[in-house]
Amino acid sequence: LLDENGIRCDGRKIDEPRKIVIKAGGLKNADGSAYIEFGDNKILVGVFGPRDVHPKHMSNTDTGILRVRYHMEPFSVGERKRPAPSRREIEISKVIKEALEPAVMLEKFPRTAVDVFIEVLQADGGTRTASITGGCVALFMALKNHHDDHRAIKSHIAAVSLGILNGQVALDLDYKEDSSAETDLNLVMTEGLELIEIQGTGEEAPFTRDELNDMLEVGSAAIADLIEKQKACLL
Ligand code: CDP
Repeated sequence: LLDENGIRCDGRKIDEPRKIVIKAGGLKNADGSAYIEFGDNKILVGVFGPRDVHPKHMSNTDTGILRVRYHMEPFSVGERKRPAPSRREIEISKVIKEALEPAVMLEKFPRTAVDVFIEVLQADGGTRTASITGGCVALFMALKNHHDDHRAIKSHIAAVSLGILNGQVALDLDYKEDSSAETDLNLVMTEGLELIEIQGTGEEAPFTRDELNDMLEVGSAAIADLIEKQKACLL
């Protein structure tokens, strides 16, 4: 996965992210929306709400609720994916919901729901981290449009994946790398670079504490850059 100069298959350096595009807006029926690319991942997010909850019994009198549906289009991967929600999509939806909750103050919108719909148009590894990063932009846009309520925004949230390739820490793995990396780790952080989630396994090749620290260091710098991009596109 690395050539003799330490360059990756797609020409990137070990700590270099893929080309990132983040655009706020685009869907006129949504309260907030965003389009994001992490390399060949192409993802559209639409946010609806805060709005009345249906079914009503799901509403909470003390707070608003966040609901997330992550969906991969059948044409988003080389081999056609079955259109029915897979266990993987249900699990990733939950991971994204938990990652985005700390971004906003849902308690300001009791009895309402904020619905986040994520459509993966093209997938190439790291769709969950790209979805979290783009999802935050769409979510902020929805809340700003709602009674002009900037105050409900707590912190930008962004995410990246990291892995270990040939014993070195690599940032933002594509599908090919993800499939053969010794370790892969998804990192979600706030704008103060506090951790929201670290999810990683080293079953095939256990990793050391030093390697974990290196992944956190490279990952935090990348997240800080992503948050700058989120802010720029929301101006
Ligand atoms: O996308 P992410 O890395 O967050 O999630 P994953 O479950 O680790 O999936 C990694 C990659 O596998 C996806 O981004 C797709 O490129 C690919 N994939 C696929 O080819 N077919 C599927 N049914 C699911 C995922």
